[in-house]
Amino acid sequence: MNIFFLTAFPEMIRTYLAESMFKKAFENELVTYHVWDLRDFTKDKHRQIDDTPFGGSAGMVLKPEPFFRAHDKLKELINSETFRVICPTPQGKVLNHRLALDLVKDENLIFFCGHYKGIDERVMENLVTDEISIGDYVLTGGELPALVIADAVIRHIPGVLHSYESAESDSFADNLLEGPIYTKPREYRKLKVPDVLLSGNHAKIEEWRYEQRLIRTKERRKELLKSKPEKNDFGGKNG
Ligand code: ADE
Repeated sequence: MNIFFLTAFPEMIRTYLAESMFKKAFENELVTYHVWDLRDFTKDKHRQIDDTPFGGSAGMVLKPEPFFRAHDKLKELINSETFRVICPTPQGKVLNHRLALDLVKDENLIFFCGHYKGIDERVMENLVTDEISIGDYVLTGGELPALVIADAVIRHIPGVLHSYESAESDSFADNLLEGPIYTKPREYRKLKVPDVLLSGNHAKIEEWRYEQRLIRTKERRKELLKSKPEKNDFGGKNG
């Protein structure tokens, strides 16, 4: 998968890509990253990327030209007229597990990161194919949401995580939240690990884990139990 970020703040993106899962996915040649500075697609001396909104109102709007020029370059690079362009925005459809699984099917993932008041609507109407929100709150720019979306997608590329199982058994893969997990020591400050986990009885442990996931989901996100599971039925392989 090739991931492109078009942004006015490239260092915000680069910093994050240089660590952890993003870094490993690149080193293992499962993804390539292309962080493009919006200012490199300007033509004026001041490399101006924003301007005041027509009709008046507070704040600055990102100009259309740099986005259109970057899109032209993408067309050449990808060698196609049609590809998905994601713009993170609170006005978009809300990211969830299902959408992440849909996006991982694409060979190219392109993010147009907004900032300030937003991006000129001509970009949104003519170039952007997917407006995606990461939740009902407003952030200062699209860089963090783009990274959030990319993270949620990349971890589903086979080979990115230690075993693909670990993404499959994530919360939401089967509409259940994750249950509690423990590590050594068995007892710390009189706080004990549940006996069942030390029992060595794997069938019993699996049953307990599934129960815990159900309890937690009922307590914290009851509505998930009513919606259709993405993949496995409850109690399936990862239940
Ligand atoms: N940009 C600003 N806020 C956002 C949000 N909640 N989701 C996606 N992009 C955003």
